[in-house]
Amino acid sequence: MDSHIADAISRPDLVRLDDGLVCLRFESMKVVSALAAVEHLLETGVVRPGDTLLDSSSGIYAYALALACHRYGMRCHIVGSTTVDDTLRAQLAVLGAHLEQMAPSVSLKLDQSRRVARIHEILRDNPGYHWMRQYHDAIHYLGYRAVADRIADELGDGPLTLVGGVGSGASTGALATYLRGRLPEVALVGVQPFGSVTFGSQHVSDPDIIIAGIGSSIPFDNVDHTLYDTLHWVGFTAALAGSIALLREHAVFAGLSTGAAYLTAHWEHDPARTTVFIAADTGHRYVESVFARFREAPAVESLAPVEVSTVDELRLPWSRMRWGRAGGPG
Ligand SMILES: Cc1ncc(COP(=O)(O)O)c(C=O)c1O
Repeated sequence: MDSHIADAISRPDLVRLDDGLVCLRFESMKVVSALAAVEHLLETGVVRPGDTLLDSSSGIYAYALALACHRYGMRCHIVGSTTVDDTLRAQLAVLGAHLEQMAPSVSLKLDQSRRVARIHEILRDNPGYHWMRQYHDAIHYLGYRAVADRIADELGDGPLTLVGGVGSGASTGALATYLRGRLPEVALVGVQPFGSVTFGSQHVSDPDIIIAGIGSSIPFDNVDHTLYDTLHWVGFTAALAGSIALLREHAVFAGLSTGAAYLTAHWEHDPARTTVFIAADTGHRYVESVFARFREAPAVESLAPVEVSTVDELRLPWSRMRWGRAGGPG
């Protein structure tokens, strides 16, 4: 039996959807990462119970840090983007986390840079606060070791392809690193939105929206580009098609980054390998923007990525490129 709900949420489900196609399904992915990060900070004496942990988040990390703080008796201060919704706001308030929500910005870039500027102000006024730096501090890899062990234990040691959205880079980077330590052959496929600097798609803007949680307008240290074999850039409509197909075909209700990962995994799947894709959160935040629009979703089978050999050739609605474990986009 678990002694805190965060421990239960930290164990994802592994669901076989089709022959060799497996969904790694989290209720809220970053709980496993935040718990291990806070545990590590306490063990190494960097923070003590009762201290305040601070970070910026667009949603699921705020929830994860609030749960980790609840579990370990810490205070939690979040600088949240406009994407923090009513459901999360109410939970954070009751959990005792302090949320400062930024006013809407004209762009994601402005929103991100204003949040970072606000963090610096808070640290100046409260030098005892610890800034978690989820996008840069490698302690956010640690919690994924147990998840990688579970995947390796359950799936055996055949060739494996892992597919997941890249935000901070911690989940895909950590799972690939730990899995490669145990299995002979692990390919990593990263999923990005258009308009993100992380793998060089900032020159292509998606007229609909940038997919929450993945992509960035600033570089992150937790992204290790040399781990990725293949990259896919998925636009909003294609990701929506993936989310609707995943619910329709397999009854998995998950968010938009998961829809993009499912579409990608469906494309990459090779019957000689096991393909595991990451479902980072549930579909509740996307009821209006995605699921209510199910009639507009093109069939997944009607979509195919444009194969490109440089990021200059990227185009909507969906592009694929062999990354070949190269460094950052320069
Ligand atoms: C819904 C969703 N999917 C995927 C990711 C990507 O995870 P990571 O930050 O580990 O790269 C995030 C991160 O915020 C997210 O919120």
